[in-house]
Amino acid sequence: MNKTNGIGENAGLCRRDFLAGVGALSATAALGPWSVRRARADKPAPGGPREFTFVHMTDMHVTPKRRGDKGYAACVESVRALNPRPAFVLMGGDLGFDGNYSSKADFEEYIRLYKEVSDGLGIPYYNCMGNHDVLGWSARRKVPVDDPDIGKKMIMDRLEWEKSYYSFDFGGWHFVMLDSIYPVEAAHGPAYEPRIGSEQLDWLAYDLGAAGDRPKVVVTHIAAFCNMGQLNGDPERKAMDGHMVLWDTRELRTILERHKVKALLQGHSHRIEQYCMNDVWYLTSAAASGAWWAGSWVGSPPGYTVFRATGDTLTWEHRSFAWEPQLEPDDKLERANIAAQEAREAEQRRLLARERAGRRSPASQPVAFRCRTSRDADGARSERSPQPRPD
Ligand SMILES: [Fe+2]
Repeated sequence: MNKTNGIGENAGLCRRDFLAGVGALSATAALGPWSVRRARADKPAPGGPREFTFVHMTDMHVTPKRRGDKGYAACVESVRALNPRPAFVLMGGDLGFDGNYSSKADFEEYIRLYKEVSDGLGIPYYNCMGNHDVLGWSARRKVPVDDPDIGKKMIMDRLEWEKSYYSFDFGGWHFVMLDSIYPVEAAHGPAYEPRIGSEQLDWLAYDLGAAGDRPKVVVTHIAAFCNMGQLNGDPERKAMDGHMVLWDTRELRTILERHKVKALLQGHSHRIEQYCMNDVWYLTSAAASGAWWAGSWVGSPPGYTVFRATGDTLTWEHRSFAWEPQLEPDDKLERANIAAQEAREAEQRRLLARERAGRRSPASQPVAFRCRTSRDADGARSERSPQPRPD
């Protein structure tokens, strides 16, 4: 599945135009293993920003389970095959499968695999903190609360990642990687809330201010906008419910608007979403892992987004890559969800064919599909919010 969208004067850009445009670009990055630790500067091109492409990839949840590491390698190989070669990849968070509910040894392995495969990109990649990238900030933790590596320290040490939020310039554009995993102390011990926090917001405002008129893109793991209630037809689920969206979206949004940020790139929900408010786009990419390496997640197959920066205009295209789910014997829920998704897609095809043929059957009724369970914002199984209808 490939979809193209845009903002600015080329808002109606079609896929053919996009491909024709990027075909004239040249590679801008050197080969080599990359794990970017800090902001890196790049002088703006004389006469203004230049053309380049970059990738937003999120929620790869790298794990040997379901051969997710091989799936991620297929994803990386797909990025390597892009023509033109993107200048860099913005990693949207949830890099390893999980640090909150896994043993320290398992988390160590997830991070190692993530780094090993990501280094194969051959271009720079910039890490963003996800809620699964912290060790033990959950009541279900498998490490002691006084473990010296608890929290963000472990993944930041292993990836040589100096500050959890930072910015850099490229091609006359300004990019910011935010940390949306805000530390709090719960009754059970260290935990997180989905927020940017006043200190980081203050830094962001002045960082964007220092970037002046450069076009700007900001990345967060937890989304500013994502309404699971509307998406699932579930009136019980509120827009600010639980950990699906940032709790300080309003404060963040006003900063993005005042500095004319082009887009906020989001992750966490594992499904493609696009909203625009006051000229700022809020774009959620598909998860690279799809449904945690068990196929598509409610219509969003494993994939990523390719962006093209042209002058001060941003266009984008969603890409998927070939990967057949490699389920484990006990993945009953995942098998049921895959079957439900296939049924939804088959029903959509059937309805489309019938409606295009102009045949109306008075006896036919919309088909409601239900999964037995689903997953909540952090991938835990949940009985609360089944995926009730075709998307
Ligand atoms: Fe995720």
